[in-house]
Amino acid sequence: MTTGELPTTESQLPESLRETLPGHHYTEPGIFRLEQATIFEAGWFCAVRSADLAKPGQFETVQIGRESVLVTRNRSGAIKAHLNVCRHRGARLCTEESGEVRRSFQCPYHAWTYSFDGELIAAPNLNAMDDVDRTQYGLHEVHVREWLGYVWLCLAEEPPSFDDTVIGDVTNRLGTPDAIVGYQVADLKLGRRVEYDVKANWKQIVENFMECYHCATIHPELTEVLPEFADGLAAQYFVGHGAEFGEDIEGFTVDGSAGLAKLPGVNEDQDRRYYAITVRPQVFINLVPDHVVFHRMFPLAPDRTLVRCDWLYLPDVVDSGADIDRSVELFHRVNQQDFDACERCQLAMDSRSYASGGVLVPSEHHIVEFHDWVRERTG
Ligand code: FES
Ligand code: FE
Repeated sequence: MTTGELPTTESQLPESLRETLPGHHYTEPGIFRLEQATIFEAGWFCAVRSADLAKPGQFETVQIGRESVLVTRNRSGAIKAHLNVCRHRGARLCTEESGEVRRSFQCPYHAWTYSFDGELIAAPNLNAMDDVDRTQYGLHEVHVREWLGYVWLCLAEEPPSFDDTVIGDVTNRLGTPDAIVGYQVADLKLGRRVEYDVKANWKQIVENFMECYHCATIHPELTEVLPEFADGLAAQYFVGHGAEFGEDIEGFTVDGSAGLAKLPGVNEDQDRRYYAITVRPQVFINLVPDHVVFHRMFPLAPDRTLVRCDWLYLPDVVDSGADIDRSVELFHRVNQQDFDACERCQLAMDSRSYASGGVLVPSEHHIVEFHDWVRERTG
């Protein structure tokens, strides 16, 4: 072994260290494609906020793995999702990220027309009912579940159990199954949304979110509000007990000043505390007494991930026009600080210096569990 080279197997590492993934896992298109197929297209993916599709015909297109998916609300009020691919010659049906159509989706190429339920309802110079079997040439449907006010989609033909793999995963992580119930996330209203276009692999973002070893270095505002984060041991992944606000802190705001109206279901144990959960593979949720911060990640390329972050409050708070700026600013800064760090690491992933990866210190050891979860799926 040459000087400075790291041992490559766990058995060679000192007791206090664990190995990370090697650098090319964050850059290689082949590995990213495998993750798209075996992770994002195989399990449940949190795609759209239900309230963003309030009326029939409102739609959003989202990238899940290698597929573009068209999500809309039908005339009976149900959310429907289909692959965004015209069944005639394969044109992308909707190229807009979001919008609203009145009656149907019409392909801009030869004008095949589909209902909100994905049926082929018209095709020029054809009797769509007779010449084309409309059940055979309807849009390909994608499985839909709604939970916490969001639409979760699954591209697999036989989806894994939502209750076990999503709800079960969250409640296990929080320790107490009912911990999230009091926040009544589905009843909250969007106060602010910020979109971050992060030049980093999606796993960098998950790993960063899972540890707080970096908190003292890059999150001055957050560690002021949550002093226990300054010791680096409060792994976000494990904040099942809730991190307590500092003594002089009034609310979860950028300057520790008072927050907004408390969510009525938040109990005494949860008051003045911050909880964080990762919902694999692409959701992070932060719970504080007066709001919820809900992140959805959209991995777009090996080195590019879009993060949509929603700040959710009681509907009365949003409707009253209350000032939510200081409340939003705290986690917005945390996001910027985290994503800058992820981009800084991404730059080095192809370096010879990181070819066999780096190391995880004890307060980061639980990240190995995430790597094992990824490896189990990608083989
Ligand atoms: Fe869509 Fe021809 S490709 S109508
Ligand atoms: Fe952080």
